[in-house]
Amino acid sequence: MERSLVMKEEKVRLLFVCLGNICRSPSAEAVMKKLVKDAGLGDRIEIDSAGITGYHEGDRADSRMRAHAARRGYSLDSISRPVRQWDFHDFDLIIGMDDQNITDLKRMAPDLESVAKIHQMTEFSRNKLYDHVPDPYYSGAEGFELVLDLLEDACAGLLEYCKDRICLLYTSPSPRDMR
Ligand code: 4NP
Repeated sequence: MERSLVMKEEKVRLLFVCLGNICRSPSAEAVMKKLVKDAGLGDRIEIDSAGITGYHEGDRADSRMRAHAARRGYSLDSISRPVRQWDFHDFDLIIGMDDQNITDLKRMAPDLESVAKIHQMTEFSRNKLYDHVPDPYYSGAEGFELVLDLLEDACAGLLEYCKDRICLLYTSPSPRDMR
């Protein structure tokens, strides 16, 4: 029997969320974009980030976060925006950084299908030392470095999850065999 390749899911759409969308979630966006690009999956995985609040709407990422990320080769180019209702429709996975983000996202979710899309970043961690990505805003340099350490680890796990979810290709009987 001739087999044809069928895409199970064409794309996975990821939205990273933190409180202000100027430190943790823009960093997650940059780390994940680099991993995805290096894996050759740029056309299969879409990535964006947003904040629970709109306090920093229109701002670039925090200058301290950008400096720490740049030292590891990441360019934080995103502009802060708040989570919007239609994000729960447009994205497949909505990934918060700490327990409060998760509580807030669940409160904002319009329906149960949307609630099921909400995950915590550290669910994807391989190194299980932390169960959340701590807010670095009032920390020193070590807080920003910790954010990047945790995100690099969790994004690697998330990439594996996305590969399984895209599931890449599976075989099924070709239409010709069905005649
Ligand atoms: P983020 O960090 O949620 O990782 O972007 C913060 C940014 C700003 C504030 C708090 C946390 N703030 O209080 O303005």
